[in-house]
Amino acid sequence: MSNNIEGKVVVITGASSGLGEAAARHLSAQGASVVLGARRVERLQSLAKDLSRDGGKALAVETDVSNCDAVKKLVDTAVQTCGRIDVMINNAGLMPQAPLELLKVNEWDRMIDVNIKGVLYGVAAALPYMKQQKSGHFINVSSVAGHKVGPGFAVYAATKFAVRALSEGLRQETKSYNIRTTVISPGAVASELANTVTDPETAARLHKYYEETAIPADSFARAVAFAINEPEDVDVNEILFRPTRQQL
Ligand SMILES: NC(=O)c1ccc[n+]([C@@H]2O[C@H](COP(=O)([O-])OP(=O)(O)OC[C@H]3O[C@@H](n4cnc5c(N)ncnc54)[C@H](OP(=O)(O)O)[C@@H]3O)[C@@H](O)[C@H]2O)c1
Repeated sequence: MSNNIEGKVVVITGASSGLGEAAARHLSAQGASVVLGARRVERLQSLAKDLSRDGGKALAVETDVSNCDAVKKLVDTAVQTCGRIDVMINNAGLMPQAPLELLKVNEWDRMIDVNIKGVLYGVAAALPYMKQQKSGHFINVSSVAGHKVGPGFAVYAATKFAVRALSEGLRQETKSYNIRTTVISPGAVASELANTVTDPETAARLHKYYEETAIPADSFARAVAFAINEPEDVDVNEILFRPTRQQL
């Protein structure tokens, strides 16, 4: 094997756009079998077709990560089809930023359901297989906002702080199963994430900020590949990266 990615079975949530899609393309090009989960199944199917055409192995599974059974089905399908699961990338997320005083309670609920519970459901689905295999790798996507809070993104930041806390607990509790745990905290990366903002003022500010600041999503894909590609006895626990021009 030319690397520690080739031949691995990698499940990626939120693979229909942005960071997840970029990771799927990059890992597939390096010989991983990728199992793609998200709600927009037609996007996943077209990505899977693209990857297969280029000689990769890819499977699309319609998945809403706020539904525990759906995430279990995604992982079960990966194991039934590919024989095992080596990496679970809990990437699906949304970021409807808005000041707390706007009381966008439904959006708070959605962020908790997808950004926190979605990650937990990914752990619940993959951990039993990894325990049995005595190997595996969780890659959970946090954010610079999982390290720093600012006005307008308190709830989003809270969900991303939670991802880091859960990941550290997971890391400590799974030592005897030879499982690796990586948290990746990106800064501004070009994707569809800002489209989830419904407050017009915040949306305008954020779109402008991303246009001026964001770097391409392959930055994230390379960070993922680095963590996976390290030898099995190396557990890369935290990667935080920003665009060079990003200040906060
Ligand atoms: N871009 C950045 O600057 C940045 C920075 C730090 C962290 N992040 C994190 O990176 C992750 C990926 O975001 P992105 O930037 O790539 O944004 P994106 O382009 O909007 O992608 C988000 C992905 O999450 C999926 N998703 C959303 N709700 C879902 C649900 N209920 N069930 C399944 N999938 C769901 C979307 O797929 P469907 O809509 O098809 O379901 C999509 O594939 C998120 O966790 C985000 O918080 C991004």
